[in-house]
Parts: sequence; structure tokens; C-alpha cells
Amino acid sequence: MSRAYEIVGQPNINGKIKVQGSKNSALAIIVASLLTKDVICLENVPNIADVLELLKIIKKLNCPVSFLKNNLIIDASNITYQSLLFPEIKSFRASYYFVGAFLTLFNKVEIFLPGGCKIGKRPIDQHIKGLTSLNVNLCLTNDILRANSLDIIGNEIKLDIASVGATVNLILTSLNANDKTIIKNAAKEPEIIDLVNFLKQIGANIIGEGTNTIIIYPIKKFHKANYKIMPDRIATGTYLLYGALFAKKLTLTNINTMDNYALINALISLGAEMNIRKNSITIYKLNNFDKLQIKTDVYPAFPSDLQQIMSTFLFSGQGISLIEETLFENRFTFLEEISKMNGKFLIIDNKALIIPSKFKSGVVSCNDLRGGAALLLACLMASGTSILKNVEYIERGYENIIEVLQNINVNIKEIELHEA
Ligand code: EPZ
Repeated sequence: MSRAYEIVGQPNINGKIKVQGSKNSALAIIVASLLTKDVICLENVPNIADVLELLKIIKKLNCPVSFLKNNLIIDASNITYQSLLFPEIKSFRASYYFVGAFLTLFNKVEIFLPGGCKIGKRPIDQHIKGLTSLNVNLCLTNDILRANSLDIIGNEIKLDIASVGATVNLILTSLNANDKTIIKNAAKEPEIIDLVNFLKQIGANIIGEGTNTIIIYPIKKFHKANYKIMPDRIATGTYLLYGALFAKKLTLTNINTMDNYALINALISLGAEMNIRKNSITIYKLNNFDKLQIKTDVYPAFPSDLQQIMSTFLFSGQGISLIEETLFENRFTFLEEISKMNGKFLIIDNKALIIPSKFKSGVVSCNDLRGGAALLLACLMASGTSILKNVEYIERGYENIIEVLQNINVNIKEIELHEA
């Protein structure tokens, strides 16, 4: 037996969504909060599977947690070192943030390599390059990384790729090095800014966040603080695209509109009607639109995490759209499922041509988080009732998505599939 969603296409979306807190910021900040060895209160933490998996690991480190209505309290005052060879480590990507946190806390770490969506090879060579230059000894055997350093030495690191994960890990590792660390070609994503804002709240001395050069001045001790996680810009973009196709009127609140600059620009270029304010957006459905050329890249360019949902959206265009995915080499696999719904496309290397198509209802399966959100949109676009399988992928990153969509007049419900 497996869980699935039954979705009736062509909804008349109407209403409001208070957008969840950011998955990708919350995961980094929750791990960073351990550095205080004190009690930390975090607000606006999304109640999603990846966060719950992370909290299972944290509880194994002798850190009691309380997580109610998006408020998370972690007591890290008696945190104890453990080898991080738990199965949960392999169930999501952000578990590798323990590398930086444990090197700062314990000067050592032993951890399974992380899991995460199969959207590409997702190597960790940039993490290794940076850690090595910080005088960390590393040993990678099979799928276990062992690292230690009695003397983390601040250094200048130039990343070959503006990797979000490597930037996070290297910031966490260098926080109490023996001298300052400069990270060049650092990731500029809003989630990095949110992490650094949190770290400053607990006493860190960092400048340059949001630019491609971040400088971390070492400090010896951190202190407790309360912090509110930033809004989830990918959930915002997801619901914005759902609304752009089906909303009589859809208002998104609790957002940082500026974080979705690239998507908003793309929607404006298609003629979308929106009321845009600093922390909310109202969107009305686009009755017809032509086509787009989208090239994903690091922030502030169009985000790879919205590529699959935008690609699906563009099947409703009148012209042929071109999508170029530059970050991950395997982020078009969801299109194989869309072909079962009569979606027509052509993939050439890292480019996809999206050919206007009328989707027919069907049974499709998620195989990654954002591809799952894209297939949910495809089910909304289809005429008739569709079944979406492997919905656990979606629930890794979208909080209460069934309730959120039902509240804006979408006919969606969870069903149990008894597979032969
Ligand atoms: C983070 O993944 C996000 N995940 C991803 O969101 C997001 O797509 C990605 O950043 C890019 O914005 C979390 O924050 C938990 P990267 P991360 O390191 O850190 C290559 C979602 O759906 N690379 O910036 O893994 C890598 O292969 C997820 O919420 C190396 O080559 O992304 C990729 O092509 C999916 N070597 C590119 O860089 C390295 O050492 C960007 O990866 C590290 C990365």
C-alpha cells in the first residue's frame, strides 16, 4: 500500500496562502544552532519531512527538541559527540552541514555522505577543497567522510562553483579558526544571508553575505538567541506559478517578494497581472501567453529549483519555450512522466524545448521534490482526475500542501494505493 494524491484538474483557485518558512534556510540554521551549546528558539520553521528527519538526528546528540506550530526549541547545552552514521543522514542533502558544525564543536566528524534529490551527481569536491585549505584532515572511504583538525587555520578559499552547500559548510567550519577566512565565489543565495544573520545573532563576526566574497572573523564562544527563519522563496514561486494558471485571485503572504525577482520578471514578461508588495503578492490567472526562454543559474538568476515547475507551466503557452538548466545535469527526468499526460517536448543536452500541449489526466510518479511539485501542477493542468504517486518527495519540502491547496479551492485529496 502506498500514499498518493487524487487531483481534479482545471481548478478555480481563489484565496490566500501564508507561505511557509524556508526549508533550505531552516536546515542550515537548525544545525548552526548547535554551536551555541545553549537553548535556541527558532520561529517560522516549516513542518516538513526534511526538518523532522534532521530533528531525529539532533535528538540522538542528546539535544532535546520541542517543535510546535512552526516554533522550534533546541536545547544543545548537553550536546554530545556521536559518529553520524545514522540512516537519516542519507535521507536528505543538508545533513552534510554537520561537517562544518562538528569541526567547530568537536574538531572532528565521521558521517555518511548525504542523500538528497537525484537531480545530478552532486559531488562534494568544493567542500573538500575548502576544508583542506582550512587545515582539515579528510578521509573519504566508500560513503563515509571522516574529518578532523586540531587547528583550523583561517585561509582564503576560491570556490570553483558558487556552491550553496560548500559556502554553508565552510562558514560553519571557519567560525573559530585561528584567523579570518575569506570565501571567494561564495554563494549569494538569500538562504546564505539568512544563515549569516542568524550566526551574527549568536555572536559571529561575518561580513559580505549576499556578495561573492564572505569574510569570517573567528570568535571563541557563541550565545543563545531567538530567530525567525526567512520565507521559502521556492514554495512562494511554486504557488505563484499555480496561481498564474488558475487563480481568479490568489494572494501569497509572509514572503520576501525581492527573493523571487527573476520569476516575477518572467511572469511580467508573459503579461501576468499582479499586485506586488514587499511581503505579499496577489496574482490573477493569465488567460493566454506566448513563450519564454529560461536559463537557470545561481542567485539572482532564475533558480534551478523553480525550473521544473516553470517548464510545466510553459506547456500552456502558445509558443515553444526553451529551458536551459545549467546547475544540475539531471533535472528534466520529470518530463518522462509528463509525456504520459500527452506533454510534448524535446531534450537536447541540458536544454528542453517545451511544445504547447493539452494534458490528459493520468497516473504519474514523483521522483524528486521539485519535479513532484511540477507534476502536481501538470495534474492541475490536465482535464479530468489524475493520480500522483510517491508524494513523499513533495512532502520533504512543502508544508501541508494538501491543506494549503484545498484552502484555495483545489480539489485534491490523499488516497491509498493498493498496488498488485
Ligand atoms: C542547495 O543544494 C539546495 N539544497 C538545492 O535545493 C538548490 O537547488 C541548490 O542549493 C542550488 O541553489 C539545500 O539547500 C538543502 P550546490 P546544494 O552545492 O547545496 C555542483 C531543493 O529542491 N557542486 O549549490 O547541494 C552541484 O553538483 C534543493 O530545495 C559541485 O560540483 O547545491 C550543482 O551542479 C534541490 N561540487 C551545483 O554545484 C560541490 O562540491 C550547485 O550545487 C558542490 C556542488
